[in-house]
Amino acid sequence: MGVPHRLIPTAKELATPSSTIFFEESSLSLRFHEIAESGHRILNPLTPAKLDLLGEICRLRPGMRQLDLACGAGEMLAQWSARYDIEGVGVDLSKVFLDAAVARAAELGVTSRLRFVHGDAADHVAESEAYDVVSCVGATWIGGNLAGTIELMRPALRPGGLLVIGEVFWISEPPEEVCEANGMARTDYASLIGTNAVFESAGFELIEMVLSDADSFDRYVASQWRTMSDWLREHPTDPDATEFRDLLEVARRAHLLSRNHLGWGVFVLRAI
Ligand SMILES: C[S@@+](CC[C@H](N)C(=O)[O-])C[C@H]1O[C@@H](n2cnc3c(N)ncnc32)[C@H](O)[C@@H]1O
Repeated sequence: MGVPHRLIPTAKELATPSSTIFFEESSLSLRFHEIAESGHRILNPLTPAKLDLLGEICRLRPGMRQLDLACGAGEMLAQWSARYDIEGVGVDLSKVFLDAAVARAAELGVTSRLRFVHGDAADHVAESEAYDVVSCVGATWIGGNLAGTIELMRPALRPGGLLVIGEVFWISEPPEEVCEANGMARTDYASLIGTNAVFESAGFELIEMVLSDADSFDRYVASQWRTMSDWLREHPTDPDATEFRDLLEVARRAHLLSRNHLGWGVFVLRAI
């Protein structure tokens, strides 16, 4: 998939206007990702070393609190809680990923400091101004787009706290073929400068960032092809197998076409 874990479109969805595709829950796409990413701990093109670096950058201290919207398998919360003694809440739509998050928290001995909530992050009612870090790493469709997601995150943030946002950006002007393969409009994402403009108009200063590179993108995406291919060989008669074969084709083509055009990174912001 060209875009990290975005709910990739089925052939039917590709025929609909791009803005409607990714903001709606598709249980088929979600199951596809649950299978394709079953071997991943971090569901993004972020290496373990870069996740560590991000934790250092956030200057976490014992007792701090983090809210992680679309927390996936909880790797960031579990790692950071184990290393920095922070407390946290993770919210995600996927029970499969949340089960993995609970298991990971137990493995790292931080169960008592973390809570995982099943649900749509857009509907999560968080304690007001209660978190030192509010993160959404790789799911900015939860608020409709980047600006909308910042608005979702803002109320939970303590004054002086950090927003940590994983987002896609255009490295270079994408050919129409790339947009079509990803089921997106060119205007769905911006360049790095354009992405920063969204942060600034929301009243936030970009104070740090950790970007993925083409290799980490390949590790995240290409490794899913193998997992999915193996699964399809083992489950040829699964009711979703035909759709999953199609999705795998769409995802592989999208990544191969997008590799030099789509970037991804985690941006650390503080209110101006
Ligand atoms: C790209 S993964 C990122 C997961 C995690 N942040 C990480 O970096 O490992 C996107 C996650 O968003 C979750 N998700 C998608 N739509 C959601 C929504 N509306 N509310 C909550 N979680 C959602 C998926 O289940 C998936 O775990």
